[in-house]
Amino acid sequence: MNFECKEPLIVQEVAPRDGLQIEKQWVETEDKIELIDGLSACGFTRIEAGSFVSPKAIPALRDGDAVFNGIRRAPDVIYVALVPNVKGAERALAANADELNLVMSSSQTHNRANMRMSCESSLTGFGDVVRLVQGITNAKVSLNATVATAFGCPFEGRIDEERVVSIARTYREMGIPGITLADTTGMANPRQVARLVSRVLEHVSAADLTLHFHNTRGLGLVNVLAAYDAGARRFDAALGGLGGCPFAPGASGNICTEDLVNMCDEMGIPTGADLQKLITLSRTLPALVGHDVPGQIAKAGRNCDLHPAPDYVNTI
Ligand code: COA
Ligand code: ZN
Repeated sequence: MNFECKEPLIVQEVAPRDGLQIEKQWVETEDKIELIDGLSACGFTRIEAGSFVSPKAIPALRDGDAVFNGIRRAPDVIYVALVPNVKGAERALAANADELNLVMSSSQTHNRANMRMSCESSLTGFGDVVRLVQGITNAKVSLNATVATAFGCPFEGRIDEERVVSIARTYREMGIPGITLADTTGMANPRQVARLVSRVLEHVSAADLTLHFHNTRGLGLVNVLAAYDAGARRFDAALGGLGGCPFAPGASGNICTEDLVNMCDEMGIPTGADLQKLITLSRTLPALVGHDVPGQIAKAGRNCDLHPAPDYVNTI
């Protein structure tokens, strides 16, 4: 691995969307807003602040409109909204989202479970969203599209890499510049990640590519390093390691933002994120969601958070 490389790694914080969408305990709108405002002060340039999906599908995020309208917009932050269809895009535009993130799975089975439609229907809807955005004069909103289950599907197993590359190319041909490869249920391994990232980077610039890993099988940060070494520069992560897709069996948390930032800090890879602020914010999560969260640095502290030596050390 190339540990000498010091190119920045961009963290897109997704706890307000991927993190909260699976939570059973209702999080009040003002608490979501406070969380996002807290994240805006941590040095991120991108925050996925919510989704505009069916409230029956994801009741936990049914207040997306109020959340987007209530947050304090930091000038350097792009606030992203996940949308599944034109109705979602219209709601997100009305709420002044800076970027729309369209999502389709590479596997038909997961797309049907998650979006209740075939991949072909999803793509037709994305075409409508692109036309909607292109029809707006002086539209400032940008577009990203995610290939979910890109590294494996909990229903279908292995996914043909050719199919993933082809979907990414289709998105680009449709006029969607940003591409995310998502490991929805943490099935990726580092060799596979390096291979797929290299192939996709033949068609998409590193500035337009995001990797989205879940730590379901403990390989999240290893996969980040493999992707970074293969040339990827932008990564989704969720505060506290919250997250998961409610329509994927066995889904669990995203890679944990503060654990990722700690790794980067220790390796000298700049992220722009303030680790101490992140740890402080992460420690508020158990009270917010009603349970312990998987992140490790918020529990262990940073390497530099030294403890006073026990008395007997000074007497030896
Ligand atoms: N926002 C709000 N409501 C929406 C909506 C949106 N983006 N899209 C559809 N709806 C509403 C419709 O108006 C309709 O409402 P009604 O029952 O009051 O008439 C209802 O949802 C059903 O609409 P339909 O188009 O038939 O959708 P569906 O039931 O087939 O579901 C999706 C399709 C895509 C809307 C739904 O599966 C969904 O929102 N999935 C997202 C899941 C998700 O967020 N997963 C995690 C992130 S990847
Ligand atoms: Zn996810």
